[in-house]
Amino acid sequence: MYKILTLNNISVKGLSRLPRDEYEISSESSQPDAILLRSFKMHDMEIPESVAAIGRAGAGVNNIPIDKMTKRGVPVFNAPGANANAVKELVLAGLLMASRNIYPAMQFASSLEGTDAEISTAVESGKKNFVGCELHSKTFGVIGLGAIGRRVANAASALGMKVVGYDPQISVENAWRLSRNVKQAINLDHLFSQCDAVSVHVPLLDVTKGLVNKARIESMNDGGIIVNLARGGICDDDAVIAALDSGKLSAYVIDFPTGQLIKHPKVISFPHLGASTEEAEENCAVMVADQVRDFLEDGTVTNS
Ligand code: MLT
Repeated sequence: MYKILTLNNISVKGLSRLPRDEYEISSESSQPDAILLRSFKMHDMEIPESVAAIGRAGAGVNNIPIDKMTKRGVPVFNAPGANANAVKELVLAGLLMASRNIYPAMQFASSLEGTDAEISTAVESGKKNFVGCELHSKTFGVIGLGAIGRRVANAASALGMKVVGYDPQISVENAWRLSRNVKQAINLDHLFSQCDAVSVHVPLLDVTKGLVNKARIESMNDGGIIVNLARGGICDDDAVIAALDSGKLSAYVIDFPTGQLIKHPKVISFPHLGASTEEAEENCAVMVADQVRDFLEDGTVTNS
């Protein structure tokens, strides 16, 4: 019997890939053969020596002590691409919320009181405060052209945006083959200098920390939008806030709220919702459960 320790809720569809007559799945297992988790931060956790594999039901693995596990020879499996559609759709939602002032406009509409005639009068005088701008024809930079970035690029292009992309790991030819809607930037500075909006789709690494910085924001078109549903730390938050305050940026869309950001009127913050759709949760759980099972049962290593 294999013992699986779950550190977060894992979709039932994923757990069903581990047959009950061979797998004991519990959030309290003391000597587990493998761990399945979502966003639980494992860095301070005592990881039992019995653990032979870890499965992260998501793309990022920065909540797992990879170096420590590598030294122990424990593979860490993840689910790249399995939640890409969900993240893409939230990027579009963030862009549209920002460009059309959707949240403050909804707050205004739901605050109205009185007769229908009074509400109608208040609507006509209040709506001037929420005039937005169209995304159509604006230049949109996509940084990172992996499973998520490519989908975001194609969706933005379908909205009529001019999409420019940059990914240091993908050649110009491949980027074009993967997403014909993307014009390749020469480098990051080149990308920022032409954009009205930028979305980042890279992991948080030493080289991506502070990638969205003061100089790059200043080179953007005025009133720009930054979307970071990837990881906190990729943007220099102090530089972003200064640009929001000066009007250089009109909105900052994030999925990793911090105390410094959540109260800012121009920050649109989601509570780490990028991958939170039923479909994405199932896809991720199935992908990692399959990988962990195959490794435990016959040593097969895919995508660790
Ligand atoms: C990811 O890295 O794909 C997300 O953080 C997944 C999640 O929300 O659990």
